[in-house]
Amino acid sequence: MRSGTHIVLVVTGSIAAYKSAELIRELVREGMKVSVVMTAAAEKFISPMTMQVLSHRKVTTDLFDCDTELEIGHIGLADSADVVLVAPASADFIARMAAGMADDAASAVVLATRAPVIVAPAMNVNMWENPATQENIQRLEDRGIYFVDPEDGDLACGWQGIGRLAGNNTIITALRYVTAGKDLVGSHVIVAAGPTQEAVDKLQYIGSRVSGALGYAVARAAFFRGARVSLVTGPTELETPYGVEVYSVETALEMRQKMFELFDSLTSTEASIDWPVKGSKGTTLVFMAASVSRFRAVEVEERLTIVEGEKKSIKLVPNPDILLELSKKRSEIESSSKSRIRLVGFSSSVGDEDELLAQAREKLTRKGADVMVGNSAASENLDVAERVWLVDRQGRQEEASASDKGQIADKIISSALKV
Ligand SMILES: Cc1cc2nc3c(=O)[nH]c(=O)nc-3n(C[C@H](O)[C@H](O)[C@H](O)COP(=O)(O)O)c2cc1C
Repeated sequence: MRSGTHIVLVVTGSIAAYKSAELIRELVREGMKVSVVMTAAAEKFISPMTMQVLSHRKVTTDLFDCDTELEIGHIGLADSADVVLVAPASADFIARMAAGMADDAASAVVLATRAPVIVAPAMNVNMWENPATQENIQRLEDRGIYFVDPEDGDLACGWQGIGRLAGNNTIITALRYVTAGKDLVGSHVIVAAGPTQEAVDKLQYIGSRVSGALGYAVARAAFFRGARVSLVTGPTELETPYGVEVYSVETALEMRQKMFELFDSLTSTEASIDWPVKGSKGTTLVFMAASVSRFRAVEVEERLTIVEGEKKSIKLVPNPDILLELSKKRSEIESSSKSRIRLVGFSSSVGDEDELLAQAREKLTRKGADVMVGNSAASENLDVAERVWLVDRQGRQEEASASDKGQIADKIISSALKV
């Protein structure tokens, strides 16, 4: 989500209203502008003062407030919203939305806005399962309202079942999805991420210390932008990105095999779909962001043993260069699938800016990629991409450093669409 995105958060009369306080903090921490609108029932559960302090903005509670309505405040809010989020949404509020009511500030803002609306319900399981609620939700979904379904678990009312407000992570993922431009609709994005592990015996392996976070961020950002995303990942601790097909592999050879299977399966059917979005039709973007171990052991021993005073050597062979191999096969796949393929490589350097750029350019040419992402691994923590540059085969060079990996990922994807 772009920093400064204006989120109008509608809080309604659910026991889960206190959770919206933490949600506001997280959104504000991420640089979002959050304007809170509360129903009268919501005020029974959490005070407008709390919401005002956390959001640093005036909270709207009254449709007939002389001050805010001097400039027709509720319409101003509805117009300036990039997205309206109702969280938690009570059964009653969902019913009022379905009926098109506007009898308080919250429902009037929701009815008046042209921004996308996301609803995160929270209620007792029987209220949730009641056909009245389900029919209201169906009507709203048919009108293009997005829902973040409640979760299963212990409910405040003592019941067990579906009705708990979705977690903040899920709600923020929905916000990101809904606010992202959908310029990748019709595209297939294939990402290789994470380290590989090459066994030397049954317990030990040669691997890389990177976590794979940048590759995961690219997969996530591509999904938000509307792509079908396949993620081929080495072993990581990272949370599986929502909406992405994940293929777990361990070694470089397994990663290469999966990447080629995906590459070979690009079909002309996929490419020939007539998407209304200009530019992305039939495009396949491949991001080779994995930190593939350069070598693997020739023989995997049962157990490496220590013999006192003796040195031990392990015979290694180089692993394949997956990006280079993909680029050699690119034109064949492009002509058989009628798909436009863009290849993006990643190059980590411990040197200074000049060295990093020289290395990225050299790899770009040698491996036949369209874009090379050069990032500095000079920091102690290899996951803190201190500085990131993009170089492309048309000679462009751009710095893409940002504190947030999601923003870097967006810039990387955009650069691949430009070449
Ligand atoms: C203690 C308590 C907890 C409640 N929790 C919920 C809830 O989680 N979800 C819900 O839909 N209604 C809940 N209600 C009922 C709503 O507050 C009630 O329907 C109210 O009219 C909703 O108003 P609003 O939709 O304008 O915010 C609760 C009521 C009480 C007294």
